[in-house]
Amino acid sequence: MLKLPGLIDPHVHLREPGATHKEDFDSGTSAALAGGITTVLAMPNTKPPIFDADTLDLALTTAKQKARCDYGQYLGAGPDNSNWQRNASASARSAGLKMYLDSTFGELRLDDMTLWQPHFENWPKSMPIVAHSESRSMAAAILFAAMHDRPVHIAHISLKEEVLLIKAAKERGIKVTCEVCPHHLFLSKEDIPAISHGHPGRGEVRPRLATPQDVDSLWKNLDVIDCFATDHAPHTIEEKDSENPPPGFPGLETILPLLLTAVSESRLTIPDLIAKMYTNPKRIFNLPDQPETWVEVDENETYEIKAAEQFTRCNWTPFEGWKVKGRVRKVVLRGRTAFEDGTVQVEAGYGQNVRG
Ligand code: NCD
Ligand code: ZN
Repeated sequence: MLKLPGLIDPHVHLREPGATHKEDFDSGTSAALAGGITTVLAMPNTKPPIFDADTLDLALTTAKQKARCDYGQYLGAGPDNSNWQRNASASARSAGLKMYLDSTFGELRLDDMTLWQPHFENWPKSMPIVAHSESRSMAAAILFAAMHDRPVHIAHISLKEEVLLIKAAKERGIKVTCEVCPHHLFLSKEDIPAISHGHPGRGEVRPRLATPQDVDSLWKNLDVIDCFATDHAPHTIEEKDSENPPPGFPGLETILPLLLTAVSESRLTIPDLIAKMYTNPKRIFNLPDQPETWVEVDENETYEIKAAEQFTRCNWTPFEGWKVKGRVRKVVLRGRTAFEDGTVQVEAGYGQNVRG
């Protein structure tokens, strides 16, 4: 039996408000506990998006009633909400600011760089900024962080050029950190036919699955990567198999077994896993201690991943049928058994806001 600290996932989409048929604070935080994760930070691209004090309250009120593990809620950067001095109480109650820098996300749209500047200027330096920025826009985000001498965390890097640029920026003292998702470590674009089962939408995720060379470079540069994060982005199997499939993979219940399998194959070490899923995210996102909290894992149990056994509401996983080694047996959160042998044992509302 292996004992790990309560793990942290700084990047999840819990779909509340607005798309609770895909997930909500209850099902999403149950999935987190089943995956050995005791803190999730929820993204703001909901309906409505979370972008000011009122929408933040909407999400936090629901989370308070429904979450079973601890949580934080990001605010989203939009074209009209950069006056964060006026909204200081909202920023302090959020997990951080999420900036979508190269894709359009409804109201959270920052089409040109003149809209980035006031967010970097006004967002409190003590609070995290997370950028969804791929390739060249990632380089621009790092430049903004350097110009403002403040930290920026780059979400879900997937490319060789990205990991190498972040390495170079870190060597020059720029305050940049980054995360990588399991699907970019364990899948490449060459796996799309195998995971699609004839439904091309199942291979759709942003950032897209990359080349085997990109995947290799992430593994070779693990020391550059600060965090593992799921980017848990559940869409129902019906939506994934429709004419217009939305991008996104669920990930909360598969991240730990996949990484423990990598440990069993000597591709990763347990201290490195703890650094990237606990120590580093706790520091980067300034998260509170969770006393009397741990995860018990049977590192020798081998089993097959099955969507039918998961708590996420989306009812599919790109890793269906994968043989993994390492099962979460028990999760103790703040002194209570929160999950044991396949059952969630704490009630909705047990979870606490990390910005309490
Ligand atoms: C995310 C989602 O579904 O919310 N999808 C994804 O592929 N990662 C949106 C996003 O963060 O790009
Ligand atoms: Zn995301």
